[in-house]
Amino acid sequence: MKNFLSEASPEFAAAGTEARGSRFVRACLRLPVDRTPIWLLRQAGRYMPEYMAVRKHHSLLDICRTPEIAAEVTITAAERLGVDAAIIFADLLLPFTPMGLDFEFLAGEGPVVHSPIRTAEQIHALRTDRVDELSYVGRAIEKVAAHFSGPRADGDQLGIIGFCGAPFTLASYMIEGGSSRNYIETKKLMYSDNAAWSLLMEKLVTVLVGFAQQQVEAGADVIQIFDSWVGALSVTDYRQYCLAPTTELIKRVQALGVPVIYFGVDTASLLPAMRETGADVVGLDWRVPLDVGWKAVGEGCGVQGNLDPIALFAPHDVLEARVREILAAAGGRPGHIFNLGHGIVPGTPVESVIKVVEWVKEYGTQ
Ligand code: CP3
Repeated sequence: MKNFLSEASPEFAAAGTEARGSRFVRACLRLPVDRTPIWLLRQAGRYMPEYMAVRKHHSLLDICRTPEIAAEVTITAAERLGVDAAIIFADLLLPFTPMGLDFEFLAGEGPVVHSPIRTAEQIHALRTDRVDELSYVGRAIEKVAAHFSGPRADGDQLGIIGFCGAPFTLASYMIEGGSSRNYIETKKLMYSDNAAWSLLMEKLVTVLVGFAQQQVEAGADVIQIFDSWVGALSVTDYRQYCLAPTTELIKRVQALGVPVIYFGVDTASLLPAMRETGADVVGLDWRVPLDVGWKAVGEGCGVQGNLDPIALFAPHDVLEARVREILAAAGGRPGHIFNLGHGIVPGTPVESVIKVVEWVKEYGTQ
């Protein structure tokens, strides 16, 4: 593991050694950087011809479970776009398999869990002792870390991001059996069986900490925790049912020695509560102006975001204006990582994605 945290001491920050290390990791720690770092949610995905070429011969799960291919897809996307960090190619649902829950990805439908969890007995039966079976993700990270081990042309070290889901978002897939509009089954269980819900949260935290540990030991510099669907919750329900287990997860991942980025969608009203988890950086969706979102999480926390991914379909003058607006709202304060407000969708013009990276490099001097 790289020793970035020790660099976070005030003396180091005051020493003015801004260019050393990884500007992405430094920004996660709210240290000064030479310019705003950028990476993009779903930067390796179906919008990219290089990914589709690999996908023609391999299923999504095959790519995730074959370290050579997962590493290649991760590296290709980061290099093609010229971003400052690479997120390991994997999926939120991978931990379901060692927990004893079968799922698959169906074309056009997304993930499908075959026997969704609806009872306390099913929660009791979930396994937490087979996290080792996820070691293929760590092996892929090792390959990515080896590839990016030296400084790049501009002297910066590319950041490597590991990730996992947050307890609520993973529980919602387990209980709904797939994507959902109203999360009725999830909320029914959450409201009606406190003991079962708490046990599910606890089991997820146990597995996710183990999974994150493998990724950090393999070379991940930062862990991003995706709570993609947490915006379905009221502030009261978030506080009552999710804040404690999510805080526990984040604290235990930070104890592994890496900063944590905590991301959700439709979270404007939840941001102050999400900040209470102690995450180093909170990911903002595009619905909240970046400065308003940053105020909501407070100055003691970094922010990541928050361009509307659909703005990538706009004419370049409009897109450029949106990029500049976000950089202006961040105002060059340490702790901003440029990103989208959610993932790149299929059909997005690759040249627009590359343009955004170029503009952030040009205008994002802090
Ligand atoms: O560069 C990257 O970010 C790619 C790595 C990545 C994938 N999934 C690969 C993938 C990451 C970070 C994820 C996380 C993930 N998986 C999330 C959180 C991110 C978010 O968008 O909020 C979620 C909710 C999942 C679960 C999941 N996986 C869904 C709902 C889907 C279907 C989405 C769709 O548009 O069809 C997937 C499939 C998936 N995972 C794809 C990719 C590239 C696309 C399908 C494919 O290649 O066949």
